[in-house]
Amino acid sequence: MRLHVNIDHVATLRNARGTTYPDPVEAARVCLEAGAHGITAHLREDRRHIRDADVEQLRAMLSATFNLEMAATDEMVAIACRVHPDTVTLVPERREERTTEGGLEVVNASPKLRAHVAALQAATIKVSLFVAPEIAQIEASRALGVEQIELHTGEYAHALGDPKTLQRELDRLAVAARYGHELGLEIAAGHGLTTRNAAALVAIPEIIELNIGHSVIADAVFAGLAGAVRSLLAAIALGRAHR
Ligand code: PXP
Repeated sequence: MRLHVNIDHVATLRNARGTTYPDPVEAARVCLEAGAHGITAHLREDRRHIRDADVEQLRAMLSATFNLEMAATDEMVAIACRVHPDTVTLVPERREERTTEGGLEVVNASPKLRAHVAALQAATIKVSLFVAPEIAQIEASRALGVEQIELHTGEYAHALGDPKTLQRELDRLAVAARYGHELGLEIAAGHGLTTRNAAALVAIPEIIELNIGHSVIADAVFAGLAGAVRSLLAAIALGRAHR
């Protein structure tokens, strides 16, 4: 099982104050040191978190897998072909959304999607499509010739606390994962995953990769807040001692 940590929200925090910290590239280093197998970052059209310079620096420092999420647009595909991440995950993107909502529409995709996939593959970049756990979307993904799909786990994540819906969503993901695997696709999963809901998901044997972002950064706040306060108090005490 590969764990790819999405470091977007380290950049969200940095950008909120226009500072140079916290640095998402440093965060990537810490995640890998802690045992993560790869790093995921989403370069959005509006650059609300990860920026072009972050992508360049991540590529320069990462020897582990670099998975770049992006919309299927000419601009993004050109950036990917130049920067050369190991994997590109194509996602749907709307400006007004808070986070990626729903999977990519592959069944009724425009011919441009095929051209984008072909351009990325010609640049020897592995292509993954972020799709809902629906048979038709998986078949269409296979027909496009991509190597991997990432199953959208948002509905599963939202169902926590409602055991019937949770089981139904888990079953849907299991069926989709098995079907995709039988078609020869690698199966990743992501969106809304946490320490509470990831365990049941990884019982699905065909899922070999998780992409997790928001909850890791949220948990990191409380894993590190006490230490950060102690460091600040120590710095203040040192300043006082040197008065
Ligand atoms: N996978 C994909 C394709 C995504 O777009 C996102 C959100 O950027 C994630 C995984 C991570 O979701 P979360 O931040 O909820 O863990």
